[in-house]
Amino acid sequence: MVSSYHHHHHHHLFTFSILLIHFISTTSSSASFHPKALVLPVSKDSSTLQYTTKLIQRTPLVTVPLTLDLGTPFLWLWINCGKNIISSTYHPVSCGSPQCTLANAKICKTCPSQPTTGCNNNNNNTCATHSLYNPITNISPPLGGELATDVVQIHSTDGSNTGKTVTVPNYLFVCAPKSLLQGLPKGVSGIAGLGRTTVSLPSQFSSTFGFPHKFALCLSSFPSEDGVVLFGDGPYNLSSGSDVTTLFSYNPLIRNPVRPSEYFIGVTAIRILEKDLPLDKSLLSINNKGNGGTLLSVIHPYTVMETSIYKSFITTFDTLLKKLYQLKRVTPVAPFEMCYDSGTFGYTKIGPFVPDINLVLQNGVSWRIQAMNSLVRVQSIQAYCLGFVDGGRNPRASIVIGAYQMEDVLLQFDLAKSSLGFTTSLVPDRIRCSNFNFTSNVV
Ligand SMILES: *[C@@H]1O[C@H](CO)[C@@H](O)[C@H](O)[C@H]1NC(C)=O
Ligand SMILES: *[C@@H]1O[C@H](CO)[C@@H](O)[C@H](O)[C@H]1NC(C)=O
Ligand SMILES: *[C@@H]1O[C@H](CO)[C@@H](O)[C@H](O)[C@H]1NC(C)=O
Repeated sequence: MVSSYHHHHHHHLFTFSILLIHFISTTSSSASFHPKALVLPVSKDSSTLQYTTKLIQRTPLVTVPLTLDLGTPFLWLWINCGKNIISSTYHPVSCGSPQCTLANAKICKTCPSQPTTGCNNNNNNTCATHSLYNPITNISPPLGGELATDVVQIHSTDGSNTGKTVTVPNYLFVCAPKSLLQGLPKGVSGIAGLGRTTVSLPSQFSSTFGFPHKFALCLSSFPSEDGVVLFGDGPYNLSSGSDVTTLFSYNPLIRNPVRPSEYFIGVTAIRILEKDLPLDKSLLSINNKGNGGTLLSVIHPYTVMETSIYKSFITTFDTLLKKLYQLKRVTPVAPFEMCYDSGTFGYTKIGPFVPDINLVLQNGVSWRIQAMNSLVRVQSIQAYCLGFVDGGRNPRASIVIGAYQMEDVLLQFDLAKSSLGFTTSLVPDRIRCSNFNFTSNVV
């Protein structure tokens, strides 16, 4: 329930986590029913390519559309906290409370100079956090954001269908100014943070209901069909009666001390047709400024690579595609640089035929990127383009695995074990992330 990072660096936080858990669980109104897992639908916004979900909050209940982000430390949303009565179950968080301390742990992006008390004396002793930022624009409001709690309602699941709704009575969130919504899809009012903190959605849900500190993400490749995020352990029965958990490979999640709420993995090489790309290996580890390494991010629509890695990758891949597969290049369409005439591909049942791209990980297993996750169909030029983009010379992470490479792949983030479970594309197994059956099985 409490990550090893907090044990190691913030021993006192352990005590506060216990207090928070105690606080939440003793006020739970759904004490009679203990869900083993919870579920939220995930859709893709076609104009921004961001993935969104909807959370049900407040009294009376309101549906709040949110952009999903893996690295954001908590739920934040545009709401005029303290200005007028928003909800009869709304409570500000007071300065110095355990919740205030938790939310002000070192969970920001550029932590070293953060205040940790969270006291905002001008506003009736209400706790604020300076870890508030918009992950799309990287903007932080100068005054941070106030903390509050309110009721959240969410569906439970048995891993196959949606079940009873359950209530989290005092869900902790951060109030953001309207200006922070810049860059988010129209109608979206904040960010659902899935980060590696004690106050993110997965942490608060598992603390409230006492289920394992894990969540799974499955992004749909069909714009009109929802994917899913599941909080808690499997089974994850995406196709009727079969548990996708059996298809997982596992690899450690790495913590970046400068960006501790984000999820990094240890890519050691990029391998295509048994050959490793030439690249500067030092870029693959995280340096003492917190730069480098491989990040997972759903707010990046396509995988981003540092320039030298990107050049090595597209040159090697392009040479192979032209030599071995006789593909014809066509004038590309932004943001892509390498596009090929779709008439020149060979096809299998599941799409165009190209070699896999293997991201070789720490323990020797590979994240295998197959054609459906490496090539993007661009109808306007009757082509398939390589779905990877150039991240420039000094990006914060050398590789950012983006959403397109995660579509129809099931990822499980285990925060207690600091481990990532991942599958290859589920498509060859005739499973799609949109197969999750949202029909309720409550009779
Ligand atoms: C502080 O609380 C008082 C009494 O509850 C209220 O009248 C006042 O508006 C509050 N001030 C601010 C800045 O929220
Ligand atoms: C999920 O799949 C597993 C494996 O096929 C099966 O044993 C289990 O009963 C399924 N669970 C539900 C709730 O359908
Ligand atoms: C979805 O679940 C409902 C309720 O259990 C069931 O009746 C229906 O057949 C399921 N649909 C599919 C496509 O499996």
